[in-house]
Amino acid sequence: MKPAGAEARLVAARALAAVLDQRRNLGDALADLDRQLPDSRDRALVRRLCNRVLRDYPALEWRLSQLLRKPLPRKSRDVHFLLLSALDQLIEGREPARAVVHASVAAARTGGHAHLGGLVNAVLRNQQRRALQMEAELPDAPALRLGYPEWLLDAIRRDWPDRWREIAEAGNRIPPLWLRVNRRRSTPERQCRTLREAGIEADTDAHFPDAVRLDHPARISSLPGYAEGEFSVQDAGAQATAGLLELEDGQRVLDACAAPGGKAAHILECARVELTALELDPERARRIEETFDRLGLAGRVIAGDAAQPQEWAAGKTFDRILVDAPCTATGVLRRHPDIRWQRRADDVAANVMLQDRILDALWPLLAPGGLLVYATCSILHAENRDQARAFIARHADARPLETRLDEGVSTDPGCQILPGSLDRDGFYHVRMRRVR
Ligand SMILES: C[S@@+](CC[C@H](N)C(=O)[O-])C[C@H]1O[C@@H](n2cnc3c(N)ncnc32)[C@H](O)[C@@H]1O
Repeated sequence: MKPAGAEARLVAARALAAVLDQRRNLGDALADLDRQLPDSRDRALVRRLCNRVLRDYPALEWRLSQLLRKPLPRKSRDVHFLLLSALDQLIEGREPARAVVHASVAAARTGGHAHLGGLVNAVLRNQQRRALQMEAELPDAPALRLGYPEWLLDAIRRDWPDRWREIAEAGNRIPPLWLRVNRRRSTPERQCRTLREAGIEADTDAHFPDAVRLDHPARISSLPGYAEGEFSVQDAGAQATAGLLELEDGQRVLDACAAPGGKAAHILECARVELTALELDPERARRIEETFDRLGLAGRVIAGDAAQPQEWAAGKTFDRILVDAPCTATGVLRRHPDIRWQRRADDVAANVMLQDRILDALWPLLAPGGLLVYATCSILHAENRDQARAFIARHADARPLETRLDEGVSTDPGCQILPGSLDRDGFYHVRMRRVR
């Protein structure tokens, strides 16, 4: 019989290879997980191993390089990543070392690498013997210690010279699960009661009027009230956006980058507006419709390019426009530890150009006196403060309005939520009024 977790270790190793060698998204790499591993404990182990290795990848690579005489050949990448996750587990010490070694050797065998079983065993036992010495020799390089690619840590340090370490550390912490309660169907207090009655710890939070916080992971779709549309999953940072739009019943509102519809739904929960939700990717646009259906909300969903309004706007103008722009997502690393390994340095400039085009194309659609909120889940000035400054310099009829959020950093213009502040993801918002 195979030791517990052998199969899961192999699945995790292959997902890690997909993310780290092929720059695939972890969600896509694990899309088949339910079918591959029917036991929920195995699935939880896969997620844990992947998340932990992605958060500590440079140091684990360094350790493995010390333990191997020469790198494993290309065709044995499964075993390379099996070893990284086993090293991490040995260092963590949550599972008995014998069990980790045994299951890792079995996983190598299951993956068709029986000839490397002896090597896996030897490397892991060597790690046990040399643990203290390696700890002392671990290079004192911030990117390696903090688990970031050099370019990204440099960018964070350049933009936040006094806070870069705190930001980088926050990106490695396990986030809570934030729910946004659908105001039209429930209240945070009622939702908390229902969850507690089902044995799930849940709390409201005085800072966030629609939020419920869960500190332990949960399968969302099986939480009471989910199918009934009583709540959605949305980070407390993202829950700030709707409140910044100064919504009133009857307004025409455009959410220009809307999928999967989290903020669009929040807007509809807050006021009886005429909402258009636009999304470039038609498949993702369908997810907005599913979101509205589950929550009992009605809005117009269009698959189209925000940078080409002539193709879908038909001369219509809006009182409010939300541009929740595509970005580097450097504010949500704690939730998606794969992102830091997928992005490259030149992605920043590519995102800035796209954001620029979208903002310029949509501005004429804003009615005089109307309000545009530009938001990103980035922490880089180029996509945020500098983007807003350049936009204001190009548009004489754009006036930035003050944007204040609890414990947000004022960036003139706009407000940056740094990752981890009040346990939120990193977010940027700026509000611009069209004055004529
Ligand atoms: C940050 S996400 C939006 C999240 C969404 N607002 C929510 O709260 O659920 C950005 C979205 O913009 C879409 N997008 C990218 N380029 C676009 C474009 N040119 N026009 C419209 N949507 C675009 C992406 O496919 C992605 O779904």
